[in-house]
Amino acid sequence: MTNEVTAVGDAALLRRACDTFATRFGRAPAAAACAPGRANLMGDHVDYCEGFVLPVALPFVTVVVGSHNGTGQCNVLSAGQLSQEASFSAPTPDAPLRPGEPAWANYVKGVVANFPGRVRGFDAVIVSDLPMGSGLSSSASLEVAVFTILEELEGKKVDPVQKAKLCQKAEHEFPGMPCGIMDQYVVTLARKDHALLIDCRSLEAKHIPVNTGDTAILVVNSNVKHQLTGSEYPQRRAQCQEAADKLGLPSLRGATRKDLEELKRQNCDKLVLMRAEHIIDEIHRTEQVAKSLAQMDLDRVGEMFYQSHESLSTLMQVSCPELDQLVDIMRGAPGVYGARMTGGGFGGCVVALVKKGDVEGLKSKILKNYKGSPTFFVCEPSEGARALPIK
Ligand code: GLA
Repeated sequence: MTNEVTAVGDAALLRRACDTFATRFGRAPAAAACAPGRANLMGDHVDYCEGFVLPVALPFVTVVVGSHNGTGQCNVLSAGQLSQEASFSAPTPDAPLRPGEPAWANYVKGVVANFPGRVRGFDAVIVSDLPMGSGLSSSASLEVAVFTILEELEGKKVDPVQKAKLCQKAEHEFPGMPCGIMDQYVVTLARKDHALLIDCRSLEAKHIPVNTGDTAILVVNSNVKHQLTGSEYPQRRAQCQEAADKLGLPSLRGATRKDLEELKRQNCDKLVLMRAEHIIDEIHRTEQVAKSLAQMDLDRVGEMFYQSHESLSTLMQVSCPELDQLVDIMRGAPGVYGARMTGGGFGGCVVALVKKGDVEGLKSKILKNYKGSPTFFVCEPSEGARALPIK
């Protein structure tokens, strides 16, 4: 096994999906769509506080192919390492969809249930080259890919921001994960060679060109996933809301460092105070990183990467020993501007800015010193969800 992971590419994945569809359903699919995963450059755990985030879409994608089948059933085959099939009835006003088993199908069902318009019975095949459970948004990628193929099959285009919101709602209601809007938004609206500065309050976004020249965005996968994610994420979200409520604000977006004093005056719980401190600084850092990236001030970007990691680790407490170790190994290594965990945390990936000429040396250093089994890829900011032409 090599430690480098490379994108299979949507064309090859599409062929694989069409072949699987023909074998399973005995005809060719009528439509195809894909949606990428994402890495976040700055602004973690701030989307649900209406802050700014700065993610990029990855070249790794989920591809869905499908056709109507003239019945009231939806048959969905997920052709990953494990081939799994789920069937459920297309929703009607009298019989709405409900979450259930198998768990993976809830991502599909949630989107079908929230699609604005009628969804007729269909057959579909899903393939993906996104590393699963690595904090690279395989869930949002699946949701948005399914939504995009429903747009194709039902001939109904939905406004992209509305589409992201509906996919987020699907994730809240079906898998039951109270995520923010970042993942579904960037997966839907990303542009090649750009990061997306999303204002999670107004839901407006700016495409920021990422021309890092001789510098690479290296993603290092810790290949660990700690099981606490399920309970810890909603708890962080609730703690942030508690701080906002104490300040009489709708969210921590409007809070400043001065408000930390007010929280102390109110004898606010220590953990709630720590979360608020992270959010206030991280929102500010995101705006700064977007500016510094545009000005190619990579030293400043790198500095803020380290600050952000420290804050996510000590104040937000969403890192883990493996992520901390990876960042420590990278700190001060030749050609490294900065490194930070990316996404929800408790495992998953670290993102780093590294001079291209130093990437190989850095990988060797990590392979030698990291206690786990890392995998790597250089991230080329890629396009958001799209329909794929079927020849
Ligand atoms: C997960 C959630 C996002 C966001 C990140 C942390 O990926 O789905 O909404 O909160 O964690 O930044």
